[in-house]
Amino acid sequence: MVLALESSCDESAAAVLDARRGLLAHELFSQVDLHRLYGGVVPELASRDHVRRLLPLVRQALERAGVAPGELGGVAYTAGPGLVGALLTGAALARALAHGWGLPAIGVHHLEGHLLAPLLEDPAPSFPHLALLVSGGHTMLIEAHALGDYRLLGETRDDAAGEAFDKCAKLLGLPYPGGPQLAALAAAGRAGACPLPRPMLDRPGLEFSFSGLKTAVSLAIRAQPLDDQRRADIARGVQEAIVDVLCGKALRALDQTGLAALVVAGGVGANTSLRERLQRECAARGARVYFPRAEFCTDNAAMIALAGLMRLERGERSAPGLAVRARWPLAELRPPKREP
Ligand code: KG4
Ligand code: ZN
Repeated sequence: MVLALESSCDESAAAVLDARRGLLAHELFSQVDLHRLYGGVVPELASRDHVRRLLPLVRQALERAGVAPGELGGVAYTAGPGLVGALLTGAALARALAHGWGLPAIGVHHLEGHLLAPLLEDPAPSFPHLALLVSGGHTMLIEAHALGDYRLLGETRDDAAGEAFDKCAKLLGLPYPGGPQLAALAAAGRAGACPLPRPMLDRPGLEFSFSGLKTAVSLAIRAQPLDDQRRADIARGVQEAIVDVLCGKALRALDQTGLAALVVAGGVGANTSLRERLQRECAARGARVYFPRAEFCTDNAAMIALAGLMRLERGERSAPGLAVRARWPLAELRPPKREP
């Protein structure tokens, strides 16, 4: 059994995962109300709030799981990538608890957590599979061969898909965090009423680019008076463009690799339109698609618990010391290494 902490950005979370019984508890506190006033995450405020929230969340998770610290086999925490101050709060607490309880601690790569989140569901995907990782900071197509064995097939050259959702939402005057708000507004928009470019979809390869979408949206906003219908039409246009590109490239990657399973992970994976479209298109070509439940698409500690548990079970331990990394390329990850 592992206890896990997540504090890489603006959600504080704790979870308890049992290797046999599955997920026993997962607790989360979102800081969105704290950051909304500033239109984005303020790193120093995020760190200070993690300090306040994490320990009560740990207590709550253990209580809800009905687990005493003596029953745990390790403590996992997000060691990067993310906001360095925020990461340090979780790392310090996790390491202190592990030390006090005499348990091994393990630092987890946040994106490996996202990639493994679909494995918390039933049925769970098996390796190898294609992964579409779409979060606020990343847009990647990955050939996942095994735990820690990931080959990057293509990524974004500029903005991430979630960032594009957030920036276009801001242009439309929607409050932070924009992605889910834009998706909600898009439901009232008319299909095809505001056609926007599909960056790089017509080009071969598996790279993405989303920065041009902002410019196209600013032009669309200026082109006509903005009433409620027009705003919804633009939101719909943005969502259609992003979903089209993500879907087009993911299907191309399935064709190129010959893989028959697609795993979708990261915050944008919570988008209903993306889920429906991928489900339909994958079914049509006989491929299977796996998503985490929506609450495990966005940041959470359950996915960190799973990545930590899988690595601890295979004998990996993090070296002592408080090392977190703001930047940490996924390609640097390796399969678990046994402690010598
Ligand atoms: O994975 P995540 O929670 O945090 C990162 O590690 O980045 O992803 C957050 C991103 C944000 O850009 C947010 O706007 C986007 O995921 N997002 C969505 C939806 N829910 C979250 N984008 C579109 N539709 C949604 N329903
Ligand atoms: Zn994330």
